[in-house]
Amino acid sequence: MRANQPGVLDGRKFRTALLRGMVKQDDVAAAGRRLADKPILALFGDDPGRADTLCFSAPHLILDLSKQRVDVDALRALAARAQARGFDAKRTALFSGAIVNATEGRAALHPSLRGVGPQDAVREAEGVRARVRTFAGRIRAGALTGATGAAIDQIVHIGIGGSDLGPRLLFDALKPFRTRGITLRFASNIDGADIFDALEGLDPARTLIVVASKTFTTLETRANAETARAWLKQGLGDAISPHLAAVTAAPARAGAWGVDDAHIFPFSEAIGGRYSVWSAVSLACDAALQEGAFDRFLAGGGAMDAHFRDAPFLENLPALAAALQTWNREILGAASYACVPYATRLEKLPAYLQQLEMESNGKGVDENGAALEASAAGVTWGAAGANAQHSFFQLLHQGVEKIPVEFVVQMHGLEGPPERRAALHANALAQAEALLIGKSAEEAYAEMIAAGMDAARAEALAPHRAFSGDRSSTLLGLEDLSPESFGALLAFYEHRTVAQAWMSGINPFDQWGVELGKALAKRLQAVLEGEDAPPLDASTRAWVERLRERRTS
Ligand code: F6P
Repeated sequence: MRANQPGVLDGRKFRTALLRGMVKQDDVAAAGRRLADKPILALFGDDPGRADTLCFSAPHLILDLSKQRVDVDALRALAARAQARGFDAKRTALFSGAIVNATEGRAALHPSLRGVGPQDAVREAEGVRARVRTFAGRIRAGALTGATGAAIDQIVHIGIGGSDLGPRLLFDALKPFRTRGITLRFASNIDGADIFDALEGLDPARTLIVVASKTFTTLETRANAETARAWLKQGLGDAISPHLAAVTAAPARAGAWGVDDAHIFPFSEAIGGRYSVWSAVSLACDAALQEGAFDRFLAGGGAMDAHFRDAPFLENLPALAAALQTWNREILGAASYACVPYATRLEKLPAYLQQLEMESNGKGVDENGAALEASAAGVTWGAAGANAQHSFFQLLHQGVEKIPVEFVVQMHGLEGPPERRAALHANALAQAEALLIGKSAEEAYAEMIAAGMDAARAEALAPHRAFSGDRSSTLLGLEDLSPESFGALLAFYEHRTVAQAWMSGINPFDQWGVELGKALAKRLQAVLEGEDAPPLDASTRAWVERLRERRTS
C-alpha cells in the first residue's frame, strides 16, 4: 500500500486518525461481518487497483495480500486494534532490550545478534560473533587440527528444536554458498538411528562434534552427545577435547561435561531457542559455508529489523502479515494455513515455522493469565511446491474446509535452465489462481461435453470436477536466495510471529507447554526400564505392559 494513494493512510496520518477516534479497534469485528461471505473476486471489482494496493514491499521481500479475503479498511481496523493493544510500545520495548518475556523475566535480544538493539547486547553479541568467525575460519582453512594432528573437516551438529531446525534450514537454503571439502551432518532425535546415521562413515580423527543446547540439559541432545563422545573415545582414546565444541547459554554445564573453555561459545539467556539461528548455534553452518556468507545472512536479518522497527504499521511487512494471520485465524476462523515454498532449498521452511509459530503462539491464556477467547495461532503446516501439488493440494482445492495458503516464491536467481524457472513460477501462480477462480460445475460439464462425453456421464462427473474457488492465498516474493534475502525472510517470519502475539495479547517468548510431556517421559522411561509403575491412566498402563513385554522378548 503506498502512502500517496487516495484512501490510504500513511503511518503518521493513521496515528492522527486513531487519536481522533476515526478508526476504532472494534471495526475489526465489523470488517469481519462485512467480508466473511464476500467473494474475493468481488473485492477485485470493488478496488480495480487491488493487485497493487495490497502489495507491500520491504528489503528483499514483496508481500501480496490481494488474493486474501481482506481489504484496506479491514487492515486499517486491524492496525487500530494492534495500536490499542500496545503495538508501538511493545515494539519499542523489544528493540530497547526491556523485559518483554514477563513469565521468564527476560528481554528478547535476538535482533541484537543482527546488530540491532541495545548497545551492550549488540556489543556482547559481536564479541561472541568474532570468536565464532575466527573458529569457523580456522576450520575452513584446515587449521583446526584434532588429536592426531589431522585437520578437522567433518562436523556433526547435535541439537534439537531451536538448536537444530534453524541451522538445518540455513545449511539447505544456502547450499550454493557451501565450502568445498567440509562435511556437515545433523543429529537431533532420541531415536538412536539418528546419531548412528550422522556418524556413519566419518573419521573420528577429522571430526568435530558441536553440541548446541541453550540449557545443556535437553534429554535428546545429551543422549546424542554421549553417544558421539563415546564414538570419539573409541576411535581416539581419551584425548578428545579438540573434537568437542559447545554452543550454550549454560557454559558451566558444557565445561563440566568436558568441553574446553576455548571451544565453548555462549549466547544470552535472552535469546529464545527458536530465535537463535543468528547466534553461535549456527557455528557449524558458518564453518561449512563460505567465508562471509553467515555475516551476509545477519545483514539481511538486520535490514528486516530496521524495517520492522521503523516502518509505520500500514507499510510494515511483518506487522501487516501478522494482521492478516490474526484476521484469518480469529475473525475468519481458519484453523490452519499451509506454507508452500516453491524452492527446493526451502523445503525445511514449514518445519522451521512450525516451531517458530506454534511454540511461540500456541497459548491458551493472555499475558495476564486470562483465558483467551480465540486462539492466537492455528496450525502451521506445508511442504515444498511443486511436490505438494501432487499430495495435499487436492484437499486445498476441493476439501470442504477452506485453508489459506502462503506461497513463497523465489523471484530471481533460480538454479536450472530458463524453462525450468518459468515452469516453477507458472506452477506457483497457477495454484494461487486456481484457488481463487475455481471452476463451476457448469463449466466442468461444458468442457466434458465439448470433449465428446455423453451428457449423462458429464452430468454425473461435473460435481467431482468442479472447484469452488474463492480460496485465499498470500504470495510472498523473495528477491533471490542470497544470504541477505534469506536472512530477511527469516527475520520477517520472526517479527510476524511476535507481532501476531502482540495483536492477541500473548507472550510469544515462553514455552511452558513443552514441560509436562518431558516430565512424564522421564517417569515413563524408568517404568519401561523396570521400575514399579506409579498410578497411570488405563491406556498408558496398557501400552507400558505391551512395550515391556516386547522389550524383554
Ligand atoms: O522442548 C522445547 C525446547 O525447549 C525448545 O524451546 C528448544 O528450542 C529445544 O527444546 C531445545 O532446547 P535446548 O537448546 O535447551 O537444548
